[in-house]
Amino acid sequence: EKAGFDHFMMKEIYDQPKAYRDTIGSRISEDGSRVVLDEIGMTADEIRRIRNIHIVACGTAYHAGLVGKSVIEKLVRIPVEADVASEYRYRAPIITPETLVIVVSQSGETADTLAALREAKRSGARVLAITNVVGSSVSREADDVLVTWAGPEIAVASTKAYTTQLMAFYLLGLYLAQTLETLEQAEIVRTLAAMQSLPEQVESILARSEEIKAYAEKIASHEHLFFIGRGLDYAVALEGSLKLKEISYIHSEAYPAGELKHGTLALIEEGVPVIALGLQTELIEKTVSNIKEVTARGGEVLGIAYEGDNELAKSVDRTFSIPRTLDLLSPALTVIPLQLLSYYASLARGNDVDKPRNLAKSVTVE
Ligand code: M6R
Repeated sequence: EKAGFDHFMMKEIYDQPKAYRDTIGSRISEDGSRVVLDEIGMTADEIRRIRNIHIVACGTAYHAGLVGKSVIEKLVRIPVEADVASEYRYRAPIITPETLVIVVSQSGETADTLAALREAKRSGARVLAITNVVGSSVSREADDVLVTWAGPEIAVASTKAYTTQLMAFYLLGLYLAQTLETLEQAEIVRTLAAMQSLPEQVESILARSEEIKAYAEKIASHEHLFFIGRGLDYAVALEGSLKLKEISYIHSEAYPAGELKHGTLALIEEGVPVIALGLQTELIEKTVSNIKEVTARGGEVLGIAYEGDNELAKSVDRTFSIPRTLDLLSPALTVIPLQLLSYYASLARGNDVDKPRNLAKSVTVE
């Protein structure tokens, strides 16, 4: 059932091109001009009444929610907050009937996420669930359900659930934008076309997994590592950092690149590995100047950049390149080398990749 792979995690990483296709699948009209989300029961009028959106989830699903927040705010210009479920449920969030609450959960059984969903419903909000398990508690209790067709995810470290959650947010963001007419039709078509290229682009990254393996073996003996990025790159950095901690047990932190010099830069010394994500075109120059702050102190930087981005490549020790896509969609590609990195680092350290210590696949207790 591992389909010839040594671990479920690796199988699931390689499942991603198909998982993207299955999740996008029939949700794009045949002429590629619009999103079709028949499973969303909200009428256009109900969508027009939404004043704010809360995205609530745990762990990796929360990190997908952070990308979702940026996507929806950019495409629809409705204010979105993203919250960790265990915080949300106890902070007396301001929920009104005009709030749309989106809960994200691979398993659909996470106790804190389910409690947040119930709290939202009690407060009169409409709840939309993004989940990978049809018939799960979350899917039964939500008003609308957007299923991620990732297929069963067995490894504790979430990979294809995260990336299909991203697909769900792109589709949802575009769907809201087409309903509220906040985006030019040509822009919708362009984004949908770029989404349809993602599976092949993921395949081309996976074909270069050896590059990441070599880097993983190099950093496997380190105890600390940093990820930096701005905007969506920062959201992906958080996910890369969680994955690395979870299965390799290497301590890592994700930092907004511009925030480094407000404290964390003190930890950068000779040889400390730093992974810098630079896929947000308008911010690359800023990120490059943060990279220079790191290299000036001896930090060793792996840059993740678009093919042909010499500006970033010039400023780092080594680069892993990502095929060109829209900056908005880049998280769906950038996270792939980070997943591979955590996998190979875990392997190099002799850990149980699929069953990391102290963790369960589904956290059904508070
Ligand atoms: O099933 P859920 O998506 O609700 O699970 C949420 C988290 O427990 C989960 O994403 C966790 O963070 C992963 N093990 C991370 O790889």
